[in-house]
Amino acid sequence: MIGLASDHAGFELKEFIKSVLDKKGIAHKDFGAYSTASVDYPDYAHKLATAVLNGEVKSGIAVCGTGNGMAIALNRHKGIRAGLCWEEEVAQLVRAHNNANIMVLPGRYISEAEAELCITAFLETPFEGGRHQGRIDKIEI
Ligand code: RB5
Repeated sequence: MIGLASDHAGFELKEFIKSVLDKKGIAHKDFGAYSTASVDYPDYAHKLATAVLNGEVKSGIAVCGTGNGMAIALNRHKGIRAGLCWEEEVAQLVRAHNNANIMVLPGRYISEAEAELCITAFLETPFEGGRHQGRIDKIEI
């Protein structure tokens, strides 16, 4: 189960992401927002982060206009590793090197085609462990 969250600026890409997950046969839960009416991205970031941390969803994809607001809010949660991705290789590396449990996409600055490549890479790339685990272990302060 993949959790999804966006603000108004990410709503349309989130709808596209759902169609990609449906095509892949991957279950998803949408934590909002549910329209393009203006909302505050932290409200949705916190819902998704909580669902990842309590195991309701395995991992998540979040979208706002730039991706930065979502990433900043998500990463305030201890145990969340949310990484901003804008192309396929970055999405591969956010899993392989950073063991990200949430991928963040910039809804206003990425095409649907590139977003689909990022989604596939995020879902299919395993964490490499090794030296990268040691680095992750140094993140929490
Ligand atoms: C909304 O206009 C925009 O500020 C938001 O989606 C996001 O880009 C913030 O980081």
